[in-house]
Amino acid sequence: MSYNLLKGKKGLIFGALNEMSIAWKVAELAVEEGAEIVLTNTPVSIRMGDIDKLAEKCNAQVIPADATNTEDLENLLNKGMELVSGKFDFVLHSIGMSPNVRKGRSYDDLNYSYLQKTLDVSAISFHKLLQSCKKLDAINEWGSVVALTYAAAQRTMFEYNDMADAKSMLESIARSFGYIYGREKRVRINTISQSPTMTTAGSGVKGFDSLIDFSERMSPLGNADAEECANYCISLFSDLTKKVTMQNLFHDGGFSSMGMSYRAMHQYNKSFDNED
Ligand SMILES: NC(=O)c1ccc[n+]([C@@H]2O[C@H](COP(=O)([O-])OP(=O)(O)OC[C@H]3O[C@@H](n4cnc5c(N)ncnc54)[C@H](O)[C@@H]3O)[C@@H](O)[C@H]2O)c1
Repeated sequence: MSYNLLKGKKGLIFGALNEMSIAWKVAELAVEEGAEIVLTNTPVSIRMGDIDKLAEKCNAQVIPADATNTEDLENLLNKGMELVSGKFDFVLHSIGMSPNVRKGRSYDDLNYSYLQKTLDVSAISFHKLLQSCKKLDAINEWGSVVALTYAAAQRTMFEYNDMADAKSMLESIARSFGYIYGREKRVRINTISQSPTMTTAGSGVKGFDSLIDFSERMSPLGNADAEECANYCISLFSDLTKKVTMQNLFHDGGFSSMGMSYRAMHQYNKSFDNED
């Protein structure tokens, strides 16, 4: 059911690779809620993934861009604004990648050039995007920018590796840029800290199935899935949340406020019994 929450709004969505991607669900829902959107991803992800299917479904154009490259970003914003005949009202940054995770390097044996890549792709790209948007005045007053993050920014999670550092930086950029963009242009910037979700990026983390199971048991409402994350993004893009900015907003079924739950304790006791 549509509420027309984004009627007349124009959006730019990064990071839809395939049907499992959180950005994919956000794109579908944004259009259902009345928005006109432009999609983007790297040339290689466009080739390897299914974004063209999504574009057809959403009646949207795809503009290739590597979010770590400011020339690409400026070209994307200029072309995007031409396509939607105006500025954007909302932007989704749904981008993450760690070569250390991909190549199985543990946190106490990081490859530092990989680490730089992790930070550039997963965090600094957000700054580059915001700076390019501001320079080109690409976002309307009261526009809304959301980036996706994970609770490993605050708490150590086994095997989340250097992505934890990237997510801490990402959340900090949202606050620091949120102050300037809010003060000067009334643009709001937030991060959503999402439950572990079965996607291509998510399943790259070692032991991801166990992480999903653990946080499901720990969260009173259970894990939030990708569609539910899309719902939350839409509410932040809408005019109903105009004074929410510079926040890291947990969308995790209550996980981040828990210490130990009955369900997790029950599971722990079972494995304890099995030891004798
Ligand atoms: N899946 C989870 O468990 C989970 C939990 C919390 C937060 N997140 C975050 O959600 C976001 C989306 O991830 P997802 O889970 O939908 O996985 P996904 O693999 O579908 O999306 C990641 C996207 O990042 C894009 N990307 C990588 N390098 C890029 C670059 N240089 N320029 C532009 N785009 C680039 C990829 O092409 C891909 O589309 C990420 O920031 C991720 O860290 C995911």
